[in-house]
Amino acid sequence: MNDEKRVLRNALGAFATGVTIVTTKTLNGSDLGRTANSFSSVSLDPPLILWSLSKTSSSFESFKQAAYFAVHILSADQDSLSGAFASSSANPFDTVAVERGHDGIPLIEQCSARFECKTTYQYEGGDHIIFVGEIIGFQHSATPPLLFHGGRYGRLVSHQQDELAFARRAESLSPEDFIYLVSRVFYRIREEAVAERKRRGWSGADYAVLTLLGHQDGRALEDIYRIGRARGDEVGRDTLEDLKSRGFIKLDDTPGDASSRAWLTHDGRRAMIEIVALLKSSEAQCLAPIDDNEVRILKQLLGKLAIDGADSGWPPMPSRAGDEFVAAVKDEGAEP
Ligand SMILES: Cc1cc2nc3c(=O)[nH]c(=O)nc-3n(C[C@H](O)[C@H](O)[C@H](O)COP(=O)(O)O)c2cc1C
Repeated sequence: MNDEKRVLRNALGAFATGVTIVTTKTLNGSDLGRTANSFSSVSLDPPLILWSLSKTSSSFESFKQAAYFAVHILSADQDSLSGAFASSSANPFDTVAVERGHDGIPLIEQCSARFECKTTYQYEGGDHIIFVGEIIGFQHSATPPLLFHGGRYGRLVSHQQDELAFARRAESLSPEDFIYLVSRVFYRIREEAVAERKRRGWSGADYAVLTLLGHQDGRALEDIYRIGRARGDEVGRDTLEDLKSRGFIKLDDTPGDASSRAWLTHDGRRAMIEIVALLKSSEAQCLAPIDDNEVRILKQLLGKLAIDGADSGWPPMPSRAGDEFVAAVKDEGAEP
């Protein structure tokens, strides 16, 4: 592709679309599917849709001959299917569950929507051919769609209608500040767990030690003191001895030895499992007003910010091959 075409293609890529997979059967009866974002609705009466296919595609002849095809609007979690059907190197149908539609055409499951179509018109469209299909059957679910923009996949975030109204005070944070919002959510989610730890007679320092060992058992005592203090809890030898005498931890140490470590006992682990369950239940209640898609986006964005120094005491954030939120698409394959 020359530079001029690439610039034009980038400009056309400013238009955000969904992603579809169009399937049919080849003349010799095998299943065929290609990723396409050129899909558009055309008419309600009669019900018509269109999509366009590059004349250079290896699937061109088969779609041209096909009397029926099906368009699948992919859901937000189906980005890997988009990549699989954009390439002719492997047969994606080997790994995808299908049902059979009109004339035996393959129908992919769990999409946001799916349209079975009869090919009604074919138009010349430069280096593409435009297929218009009449919808002869369709399905629709509430699953949020996969989006495509500027060569990247994305998820839908609805416009916030209601602006937050508040009075600004120089001596206070406000709902416009990220830390204010994060703190409010943080305190709300852990309110019950804090009440529970108090009911159990644990101090903040006790809780800090048990949490640190819950994350990573067998930590060095030196690390527990250092991280506990860095988080604002006065963790000392007396804290550890007290937890040991109450049966929550065991110490594998010689006083003064830098390699000494602490471990959760069976009772300590059980107590932490109960507290974690309480936190998870408060979290579910707190997140209930937003949908699953928004929860995923919120976690992905916060995950990007949860980067700590090497000795923060937090376990490292898991890194994911192919960031789901903005997975770049191979330059060659995709339409604008
Ligand atoms: C998100 C996305 C959208 C695409 N949209 C179209 C399209 O609308 N039309 C098209 O011909 N190819 C489109 N492609 C490329 C095709 O899926 C496929 O890679 C291309 O037709 C090459 O097919 P071939 O390997 O059979 O030659 C798209 C690819 C991606 C990843």
